[in-house]
Amino acid sequence: MAGLIRVLGAGIVGLAVADELLRRGHEVEVVDPAPGTGASRAAAGMLAPAGELWHGEERVLTLGRRSTELWPAYAARLGVPLRSGGTLLAAVDHGDLQLLDRQVALVRAAGERVVELGRRELLSEEPRLGRVLGGALLPVDHSVDPRAVVAALLARIPVCAAPGSRPPAGTVIATGATLPPPYARLVRRVRGEILRLRTADPPQRTLRAWVHGQQVYVVPRASGEVVVGATQEEHPGRPVVTVEGAWRLLDSARRLLPGLDRAELVEAIARDRPGTLDNLPLIGPTHDPAVTLAAGHFRHGVLLAPLTAQLVADHLEHGHVDPAVDPRRLLTQGDT
Ligand code: GLY
Repeated sequence: MAGLIRVLGAGIVGLAVADELLRRGHEVEVVDPAPGTGASRAAAGMLAPAGELWHGEERVLTLGRRSTELWPAYAARLGVPLRSGGTLLAAVDHGDLQLLDRQVALVRAAGERVVELGRRELLSEEPRLGRVLGGALLPVDHSVDPRAVVAALLARIPVCAAPGSRPPAGTVIATGATLPPPYARLVRRVRGEILRLRTADPPQRTLRAWVHGQQVYVVPRASGEVVVGATQEEHPGRPVVTVEGAWRLLDSARRLLPGLDRAELVEAIARDRPGTLDNLPLIGPTHDPAVTLAAGHFRHGVLLAPLTAQLVADHLEHGHVDPAVDPRRLLTQGDT
């Protein structure tokens, strides 16, 4: 596509798309009145397609694997560290162990590597754990600090608070959970609350656990901070941190890692994830030839950002569309 490309939205997805288009020599205008303050700000940054695999979402795994392969070079180019070492799954009681076993079976059936661990093996992998019955290691998962990624992208890409007067040749919509009409109905808002804690003794790997039926994850950062997440709730109102959400996260996290009792509570934040009807993202054309979507990433915006950037740029340059994420599957001809 020749001419100016306007990218609406400067979260991790919009910025990654803009960066890729700039690298390929396009003229780009990014528009966002509050860059980097949406869902990217509350993301844990797990690059964990296996750990994040849910029943019925196996197709997301295929996309996640493709994007995971891009992440090491992507992070290196942006100068942002990638943390490796995998994800430890842990179960606290017998009911939790059943849930964990189901996850292990799902991951294994999808062809991912998973190493089952008894209680002792799990504790030797992560001695900071409290009372646990067993677990597993997903060895290939990584994590990244999404705020560092957004800061690195913002350092390269100027962002305007409002669109300029020059008409664009094409527009890419990457506005997360709030899409403009007529696309707004394509996403549903799924609130996620996370807590940031600072501890002198963080876990060595990402932990994903079932704690008396509640799911919780704990993602360590090199700085000594840990991110504890995440609640998941569909709601019509503003994404605020609720007492119940924060309490559930704290209760699960401190049962899992009793040493967190002494951690400093640095931040509690809530944002809406953009879920879609089929929980697959919307990346590619609409029925309006001037509008491309890079939206609907649900729980996977950070993971899928580099792949989304390539798919959008390939579409704009060559008309390529990946059928699995083609937005037209959820659009009618009446939606332009
Ligand atoms: N990807 C983690 C979450 O959405 O909670």
